[in-house]
Formats: sequence, structure tokens, C-alpha cells
Amino acid sequence: MSERPISFFFRGQIQHVQHVAPTTTVLQFLREYTVNKTRQTGTKEGCAEGDCGACTVVVGELLEGQLQLRSVNACIQFLPTLDGKALFTVEDLKTYMPSSESALHPVQQAMVDQHGSQCGFCTPGFIMSLWSMYENEVTVPSKEKISAYLSGNLCRCTGYRPILDAAQKSFDYPKVKLERQKIIDTLKSLQELPALQFHYQQQQFFAPKTLSEFARLRVQYPQARIVAGSTDVGLWVTKMGRDLGDMLYIGQVQELKKIAIENHHLLIGANVSLSDALSKITEIYPDFSELQRRFASMPIKNAGTLGGNIANGSPIGDSMPALITLDTFLRLRYGEQTREIALEDYYLDYQKTALQAGEFVEAILIPIREKQATFKFATYKIAKRYEQDISAVCAAVSCELDDHQAVQSIKIAFGGMAAIPKRAKHAEAVLLGQVMSAKSIAAAQIAMAEDYQPLSDGRASSAYRLQVAQNCLQRFYLEKIEETPITRVDDLIALVEV
Ligand code: FAD
Ligand code: FES
Ligand code: FES
Repeated sequence: MSERPISFFFRGQIQHVQHVAPTTTVLQFLREYTVNKTRQTGTKEGCAEGDCGACTVVVGELLEGQLQLRSVNACIQFLPTLDGKALFTVEDLKTYMPSSESALHPVQQAMVDQHGSQCGFCTPGFIMSLWSMYENEVTVPSKEKISAYLSGNLCRCTGYRPILDAAQKSFDYPKVKLERQKIIDTLKSLQELPALQFHYQQQQFFAPKTLSEFARLRVQYPQARIVAGSTDVGLWVTKMGRDLGDMLYIGQVQELKKIAIENHHLLIGANVSLSDALSKITEIYPDFSELQRRFASMPIKNAGTLGGNIANGSPIGDSMPALITLDTFLRLRYGEQTREIALEDYYLDYQKTALQAGEFVEAILIPIREKQATFKFATYKIAKRYEQDISAVCAAVSCELDDHQAVQSIKIAFGGMAAIPKRAKHAEAVLLGQVMSAKSIAAAQIAMAEDYQPLSDGRASSAYRLQVAQNCLQRFYLEKIEETPITRVDDLIALVEV
């Protein structure tokens, strides 16, 4: 691979950038004079950790020849990951208002007319989330969908009501849609470029385009940090000032973007975004919806991958407990060889996994069960905020009942209760072979105390975590076995008029 500049579509043309550290963020590119001589400061920095949404921009990518537009957090996206893509910021919106220089885009006009902006610092981020919604939706979306689009934007002064009103009203103005063909043609021409590779001082950045090249580089540079959506590693740089060393970016490998059904398994490639992966899993297992909805925010799910969540292996990661209870396994790759391992066996100890030097996660495989009334499954996320919050405890239970309603098989797993995502084997043993009843559940809740000695930290105390984990099991029993209607926060949101 020869070295060439990072090249992407920006402000109507191809932008080339070189001689920058690979960990330069998209936000730094926009705002800092040293990387971008024009300094475009419409995009703001609030938290620099993907939480507040002040830095929201929209990234365009070719997907089967069409332009896919998704909101992401510029503060934790590394600039080289934009190679071959298109970047849109709040300044771009006036470009699509050909009639008048001073005219505002409908999402901006609606924010003005509905009084959706007060201090204004968060406003460019809201505008970009609303713009991605405006471009992706044909008609006014449902209120649940609007709140999902805005799930990554915090406003602490105006309140959300006028912003939600603006989201709806923006569809009432004369339509102003992005002219896509020129962008598609430019992105197609960028696809002809060789894979991006460059070095900056002692650090190397590789973005291979094929799986075999990625695997080869992984073997050649086993010390290189794999970067996927950078929603974890981005913070190591912006918040911890860590040096990532050499970087191997997975985001250009199209073969790893695959979602397929293979031999009664849902296969999710390591480069599939959380947005796509979680929706697909929810289609097959509707009870996964609690996690799909409450996992981070839309921009984080657009950038982050399921592969990254699993590989990072945080004890409070949300996807793993549920996937463990569904008997998920991973396909790991070393060069041209692959092996498969149960997800449960992948986690050895705190931040220690079964991944060998030179190996990587190629795909996640989730068994698909026939729809049967005897199979019960549920997931629960307990966090302080409904959206955009890390779990204090994350729970999942799956079980098969026999014709007499006795438990034939059961898996109970938790995040936030141990150094790794971990099953509650004592509690499972109590329930196995028993008919689930208030009595057997109470016994399993007591047994759970032998499974876990959770930590106390800023999110929750040890006692709270254990209590809430025990309560999740009871909730599963009430909801899935007794079929008692239990209100979820989603149901309440649906009742509130936007
Ligand atoms: P990256 O950050 O790119 O990488 C993460 C780690 O995985 C790195 O060590 C990397 O080397 C490794 N890696 C990536 N891909 C592979 C591979 N294919 N093979 C081997 N190693 C690999 N997480 C939750 O679980 N629930 C939440 O609600 C949640 N909310 C968040 C909110 C915010 C604001 C932020 C910033 C993060 C949040 N996260 C949450 C964490 C994060 O979004 C997820 O863990 C995400 O799935 C990481 O994926 P990524 O693609 O961004 O990984
Ligand atoms: Fe807060 Fe990026 S600056 S999300
Ligand atoms: Fe958003 Fe003030 S208008 S924080």
C-alpha cells in the first residue's frame, strides 16, 4: 500500500488532508486552525465523550449504490475513518437553500418558529440530528422515532417540548432535499482509490478494504489497535490522553458488514453498526427491544459496532448478557484460519479475553429458534437515565419450558454484577426441572447471592445491584410466566403527547 492523503467529500468537493495524527478527531479537523485553515466552528464541543451531542455531524456512505446518511459524534470519530465518505455539518444546510442566501433550512426554521433554541450551544447538534431525520424519513415520524433521533442530544435550558414540536413541524415547510447524485458520483470515484495507509511520526494507520488484507495486517502487526466505531477507543484518547500506537481500522472492510441467515443462525459481521445489528436481532427476538432502544444513543449506535461492544468486553456492556443467554458464539479469525467459541467462554477475567495475538472477531452468530410458546426470553437495563446511559445492571433470562411448564433449560446472565458478563449458575440450578412459581423464584433469588458479589461504585452500591438483579428475575417470572402486564417506560412515552 502506498501512502496517500485522507480523502472525503466535504463542502461540495473532495477534501484531502495529510500530515495529521491518525487520532485527530473530526471535531478537531472542523474547529482547529492547525488542521483546517478555515476553522468552521458551527459544530460545538461540549463533553468530548459522545454524551452531549453538541458535536453531532452527519456522515454519508455508499450502501448498495445509494447514499446512507447517519448522525455521529464528531468528538470521538477519528478523521481518517472519514476516508471515502461524505461529511456534513450545520454550515452545509444553507447550501441546500438555493432560493435565498439568508433562508434557513426547514429544520432550522422550525426550531426558530417553535422557540427550540435558548443558549444555542446544543442547537447545531440538534439541527444535525433533525436534518438526518428529515433526509431519512418521507413523512413525519412517530413520536417514538423522533425521540430516538434526538436520543443523543442534551439540552439543559429550553427543554425538549419545543424541540420535539420543531421536529414535527419541519415537515410542514416546502421540501428542501439534498441533491444526492453528485455526492454519489464523488463517493464512487473515491472508491477507486487504493486502501488508505499512512504514518505520522512513529504511528501507522491502516484501513484495508478486504477481509484477507485485514487478517494479514492483523498477523503482521498484532500490537496494532483495532479500531471499529471508536465509541470506546475514542474516549481513551479524548479523556485519558492515551497513545493508541499503530491503528488497524476495520470500517472499510465491506465483507465484515454482512448480516445473513446461515444454518439457522443470524450472522452479524464485525463491521456491522450497532444500529443495524440491534434492529436485526430485535426482528428475530422482539424482547431484545429494551436493549435496542436503551443502548446509548442513535449517533453512538450509528458509529459503534456490535463486534466492538463484544470485543471490548466491558463488565457493564449491554449486549453480552442477552447474547450469552441466546447461546451466541463468535467466529474468530487468524490469517486464513477461523475458529468458533461460545461467547460465554470468550471472557476470562476483567479485561481479559480468549483472543490470541493476531486474532480478531470476524462475526457474531446467534442461533435462531422456531417461534414457540415454550421459549421465554427477556432483557432488562437498569440505568439512571432512560437514554444515553451506561447500565448499573443489565439482565437477560432465557428458558425453555416443557409441556408441564417445568424448566427444561435456563440461562440467566448479568452485566454490572461481576468483572465479566456472567451467568447466575446457582440461581439457574435452583430453577432447573422446577415449575416456575413465586416459591421457586424466591429460592433462586436467594441463590443469586452466591453467584455475585458486585462492586459498589458511582452508578450503584453492591447491595442495590444484588437487590435489583434479584428483582429482575422476579419481573421475568411475573411478565413471562404469570403474564402480568407490566408497564415499560416505552409504554409511558407512547402515552405522552409530543
Ligand atoms: P471501538 O471503540 O472501535 O473498539 C472497542 C474495543 O474493541 C477496542 O479494544 C478494539 O480494539 C476492539 N475491537 C473492535 N472491533 C474488534 C474486532 N472485530 N476484533 C477484535 N477486537 C475488536 N456500551 C454499552 O454496552 N451500552 C451503552 O448503553 C453504551 N452507551 C455508550 C454511550 C456513550 C456516550 C459512549 C461513548 C459509549 C457507550 N457504550 C455503551 C460503549 C460503546 O459504544 C460500545 O462498547 C460499542 O459497541 C463499541 O464499539 P466500537 O465499534 O465503537 O468499538
Ligand atoms: Fe459532547 Fe461530542 S462534544 S458528544
Ligand atoms: Fe440547548 Fe441551551 S438551548 S442547552
